[in-house]
Amino acid sequence: MYRISFIIIAMAVTQLAICQIAEKEIPIIPKPASIKLFNGKCAIGSNTSIYYTKGDLQFSAEFVADIIKSFGGESPEVIYSSKPPSKNGIIQLVLDKTISEKEGYRLTSGKNIVISGQTPQGVFYGVQSLLQLLYGYKTNTGFSIPCMNITDSPRFPWRGMHLDVSRHFFDKEFIKKYIDILALHKMNTFHWHLVDDQGWRIEIKKYPKLTDVGAWRVNHEDLPWNNRPAQKPGEKATYGGFYTQEDIKEIVSYASQRYINVVPEIEMPAHVTCAIAAYPQLSCKQIPVTVPSGGFWPITDIYCAGNDSTFLFLQDVLTEVMALFPSKYIHVGGDEADKTNWKTCPKCQARIKGEGLKDVGELQNYFISRIDKFLTSKGRTLIGWDEILEGGLAENATVMSWRGIDGGIQAARMKHDVVMTPSSHCYFDYYQSTDKEIEPAAFGGLIDFKKVYSYEPVPQELNVDEAKHVLGAQGNMWSEFLLSNSQVEYMAIPRITALSEVVWTPASLKSEASFLARLQNMYTVLQAQNINFHVPTPQGLLKTMLFIDTALVELSNPLTFGQIYYTTDGSVPTTKSAKYTTPFKVTSNTTLKALLVLDNGKASGVKSGELIQQKPRAALTDINNLEPGIRYDLFEGGLTTLANLKLLPLKNTGKVNEIKIPANINFDLKALAFNGFIQLSETGVYTFKLISDDGSQLFIDDQLVIDHDGPHGPEPKEGQIALMKGLHRIKVLFFQAGGGETLQLLMKTKGIEEQPVNASILFRTKD
Ligand code: ACM
Ligand code: ZN
Repeated sequence: MYRISFIIIAMAVTQLAICQIAEKEIPIIPKPASIKLFNGKCAIGSNTSIYYTKGDLQFSAEFVADIIKSFGGESPEVIYSSKPPSKNGIIQLVLDKTISEKEGYRLTSGKNIVISGQTPQGVFYGVQSLLQLLYGYKTNTGFSIPCMNITDSPRFPWRGMHLDVSRHFFDKEFIKKYIDILALHKMNTFHWHLVDDQGWRIEIKKYPKLTDVGAWRVNHEDLPWNNRPAQKPGEKATYGGFYTQEDIKEIVSYASQRYINVVPEIEMPAHVTCAIAAYPQLSCKQIPVTVPSGGFWPITDIYCAGNDSTFLFLQDVLTEVMALFPSKYIHVGGDEADKTNWKTCPKCQARIKGEGLKDVGELQNYFISRIDKFLTSKGRTLIGWDEILEGGLAENATVMSWRGIDGGIQAARMKHDVVMTPSSHCYFDYYQSTDKEIEPAAFGGLIDFKKVYSYEPVPQELNVDEAKHVLGAQGNMWSEFLLSNSQVEYMAIPRITALSEVVWTPASLKSEASFLARLQNMYTVLQAQNINFHVPTPQGLLKTMLFIDTALVELSNPLTFGQIYYTTDGSVPTTKSAKYTTPFKVTSNTTLKALLVLDNGKASGVKSGELIQQKPRAALTDINNLEPGIRYDLFEGGLTTLANLKLLPLKNTGKVNEIKIPANINFDLKALAFNGFIQLSETGVYTFKLISDDGSQLFIDDQLVIDHDGPHGPEPKEGQIALMKGLHRIKVLFFQAGGGETLQLLMKTKGIEEQPVNASILFRTKD
């Protein structure tokens, strides 16, 4: 008998192998390491039973039952059995020590569904994949899932998301929802930023004023973050909140059931005004301060590094923190410490002298190293932002690289572990589209989910051994501009969705096209679970679009699913409006509004644009004696607006071939005016783009085409003008207010790709 059944099994396996079919996009994010598809479907009824073989799989089994029930059927039976029956249409969760990866799992869909993992954590990830399959393959009577074998495990051990609960407080229930969102994406680390200047959020029994005083600030939620006055005498601090130790235990346990490690962040030595407001003796000056309601910066009140009582306080705080958080890693911040007060504080200076330190940079290292020793003695590992590299890196520290990737590279080369969170790709408080009129106010910058998706956590500068120190990557959610729970979700998703694939999926399997094909189902899952997310607007619509006779409106969908709807009468489009299918013509002034609606009904914001008919400006005549290039006047002095350019003294003049900062000029606090002519080969609407740091303006024939004035980073701004073929006057004004500097002018028109404006079309009068 044994022999016969062995032969039958062997035949069945051969059959499966023969029937293996080409892989299509199975809707699972992050994409599994391996999926082998077979012919046939696995039918799971909405009254299926779920078997689990070990007590610690019960949570996952009930998790599956809850998902199936959420589709509207009965609650499936959840059955403990060390040997589940080999019945059709059931779901089995089992442990399998032959699976080599601790977080890995196998999911087999055949006559039934079997999810196996070396650990309950692996099984939980298999369940997260099953969740997406259930949404993807729902039928009227249950689910019809393609037959397949998935073998999967993560690329990195640190798959993190951070949340700042200091700048805005989010209650316990929302933190649990945030943890659910992480779990859905197979993230395993929640970095909880519990302390910053604007609020201390964790109860510390030995120091009750940390939360009695430090958790509360004057409520200026109606004012912009960067424009909030300090607390006045007699004003009541009513905005805030904190987590009691009971709340923390509940959240840590909730996260642990979902295999998420909670890393607490207790900032030091800076970003601690809230603590100094509670206990002024912790600072160098020991002068009472109040908890700021917003973003005044820099803040010079930081912990005194010369005072031993500061360290005793921090050890007490960390002792209570360690009792609440089983995490191996304890985050101590370490970022952006303004050391002004350390330079003059007698105690800090005495410490520098006594310890033989060179300067306040090394004093920071002394500070972090002392805490590192304390945490190490308790069996924990210190992790801090990359500023902890300044003045030397504490012996056992792990580094979180946020100011780009250099800190990560440096630390890995020093054989320290690193977590990559560069603000170029991992700061989810940045704008996620250029639709500034639609997006809620954000910190600045621009990081859309495609940019997140493109991120590679291992810097190519590292060799194989150094690269082993890269534990993974993390998305950071600073909350200065996050005013509600749903806004946190909106900012997180789909960027976390993209990041989940960056940290889980083998790099060789990453493909944006494949990700987009799977995103639609993830959106369905999110919508069903009442989780908010960002939907991009249609592309191709500018705020103003000029045309001469006829405008051809060409919209495009940045996703590969969903439908664009539009109106041309100024009304807000809905799913009852015209469907955009193909480019169309407009021959008179028109207000165009468009949005993208997903299949599940969720819509993007409404993007609107004015199509304006414009007569092209005539070309100049009788201009002679020209040579290629352009003249510039250089002015000396700082500006914050070009309106004051005329107040600056002229330093010198010169000639260049392109509208750029002339080479060999130290450009700090200077301004430029370029004047000349531009020769156009075609009549048409011209789109110019100024990229400048700081402000700039473009005038054509004395008409302002781009107003990019004011201090800002190297951001682009576009403007249009209709021009006749021939010669036109061009003027560009530019100033630089400090920090970086950039100036570039680009141009395009129908039939001419975007190109720099240079001596091929620029002219100046000969001397
Ligand atoms: C940081 O963004 N200051 C770590
Ligand atoms: Zn001091």
